[in-house]
Amino acid sequence: MYTSKISGLGYYVPENIVTNDDLSKMMDTNDEWIQERTGIKERRHIKKGDGNSTSVMGVKAAKIALERAKLTKNDIDLIIFATLSPDMYFPGGGVRVQDMMDMSTIPALDVRNQCSGFVYSLSVADQFIKTGMYKNILVIGSENHSGGLDMTTRGRAVSVIFGDGAGAAVISRSESKDRGILSTHLHSEGAHAKELSLEGPSTEHWVPELIEENPKENIPYFPYMNGQFVFKNAVVRFSEVINEGLQANNLSATDIDMLIPHQANLRISQFVQKQFKLQDDKVYNNIQKYGNTTAASIPIALTEAWEEGKIKEGDLVVLAAFGSGFTWGSAIIRW
Ligand code: UT7
Repeated sequence: MYTSKISGLGYYVPENIVTNDDLSKMMDTNDEWIQERTGIKERRHIKKGDGNSTSVMGVKAAKIALERAKLTKNDIDLIIFATLSPDMYFPGGGVRVQDMMDMSTIPALDVRNQCSGFVYSLSVADQFIKTGMYKNILVIGSENHSGGLDMTTRGRAVSVIFGDGAGAAVISRSESKDRGILSTHLHSEGAHAKELSLEGPSTEHWVPELIEENPKENIPYFPYMNGQFVFKNAVVRFSEVINEGLQANNLSATDIDMLIPHQANLRISQFVQKQFKLQDDKVYNNIQKYGNTTAASIPIALTEAWEEGKIKEGDLVVLAAFGSGFTWGSAIIRW
């Protein structure tokens, strides 16, 4: 059986920086509240007319990852695209990437697992590599949140958190037994699907119904989040799934060289850091600059950590995510 390794990483974020003060001009919020509750100082938003979309940003990140993997588009056997904000309701973003990158008719698979989308995608890629079916897989996490947020005071508990961006990784076949993706661990609990969701347009809330009802409150085409409930579940599940991954590999928290948590909220990352008694230099956070970019947050953070020289050959890197679904997961990687 083969092993899979990350052979290239890249990310792209739109140039347009939106600070907390910028948001306070659109809704009743303030820099102090946002920083204290989330750690976020600013985020990136696509600007109308800048040419970006979820797929376009994904392509920009993917091209960097490919170049760093020293591969070309012709070497890629499969595209896996994770997002909750596809350009179109259907088809998904994977086929758009295949077209925009002018790739041959390779398969394109879309993953709908929100904040856990990248870890789920990595796990799928890992299985295809291990069985020998594919050699190189392009995994992309990309989100265009800004186009779909309620930027009024009504939506402030959600809108201040999310940002736009994309991250990509090339997953390649490796012959090494002790390096690469050691294991991945995935979970879901659909009983809490509505606690962090966007209900319409969907077949439950279809367009004619939305137009007819046009409710003033709880508009189903804006995301809804039961923040405190999500927070409480997140801290438990993050810890559980990191422990599960460590135990599966006979490792302990002291073996972790770098933890890359999904950037949900700085307070969640700090809580997890404390639980595992990790030094500051063993956890990477960049939510301060980008907000929560959902499926893109782990590949963006992983790329930045790697670019800054914080991930070295032989390091034990742990990825962990939790989000809407609820879904959660971890990946244990020997770099
Ligand atoms: O990535 C997927 C997973 N997502 C998460 O893990 C997010 C988890 N949840 C959270 O991060 C936090 O729950 C939030 C950051 C969303 C909210 O923080 P909180 O400490 O749970 O605040 P809260 O929702 O309990 O709201 C506290 C107060 C409320 O006012 P009252 O009722 O106490 O008067 C809110 O109306 O803060 C108010 N509030 C705001 N005030 C200023 C809510 N949003 C804002 C805002 N600016 N943007």
